[in-house]
Amino acid sequence: MKNLRNALLLKQLYQLKQLGYKYTDITPCKENEIDLSLPNTLESLRKQAENCHLCELSKSRQKVVFGEGNPHADLLFIGEAPGATEDSSGKPFVGRSGELLTKMIENVLGLSRSDVYITNIVKCRPPNNQVPTATQAHICQPYLLKQIELIKPKLIVTLGATAYHYLTGDETGITKIRGTLYKQNGYTVIPTYHPSYLLRNPSAKKEVFEDLKKVKELIKNYS
Ligand code: URA
Repeated sequence: MKNLRNALLLKQLYQLKQLGYKYTDITPCKENEIDLSLPNTLESLRKQAENCHLCELSKSRQKVVFGEGNPHADLLFIGEAPGATEDSSGKPFVGRSGELLTKMIENVLGLSRSDVYITNIVKCRPPNNQVPTATQAHICQPYLLKQIELIKPKLIVTLGATAYHYLTGDETGITKIRGTLYKQNGYTVIPTYHPSYLLRNPSAKKEVFEDLKKVKELIKNYS
């Protein structure tokens, strides 16, 4: 919540600057006058995210890619950031790496996309598909944490180093950490490679296959 409060304060200071203020000793807004709590349903949270202008990604995005899937999914997939296809459609993982992710869900886990929930660390596309900055990830994090709180997944699969690092704060390399369990704040994370890495390095598919077999086993045991 502190990130959200700071981001709102920063936004207000930028607005004052645009209006020509060089210095202000007024409190732009009283903290207790603004409701900083996030909505308690996924649909209201989606609406709030769709109107978000807390970071510069909101200026270049076409659509906010909030996430989609089963709102009570046992399994939550978290990628890095929307790409061009996701930006224009408003849906996560619908481009080439999305096709591969769908195949992994269907063929290895024996599930359909609509059984799981899929989202990203940041909800708006970084220009030129850049890796989201730490600031962008932190500003967007309250949305992700609220999604986790509302969906209550039994297991979270992070796709790629960036998603794992920004969700957990752990900086261990993805090659070393993939396929292992990381427990935090009541939820369990299992990192694996990002599908776009697999498109470039098909030989790494066998490791992801191992990780997903583990995911399948864990989900079975949790039910
Ligand atoms: N890559 C991601 O990390 N997320 C998407 O939604 C699409 C591609």
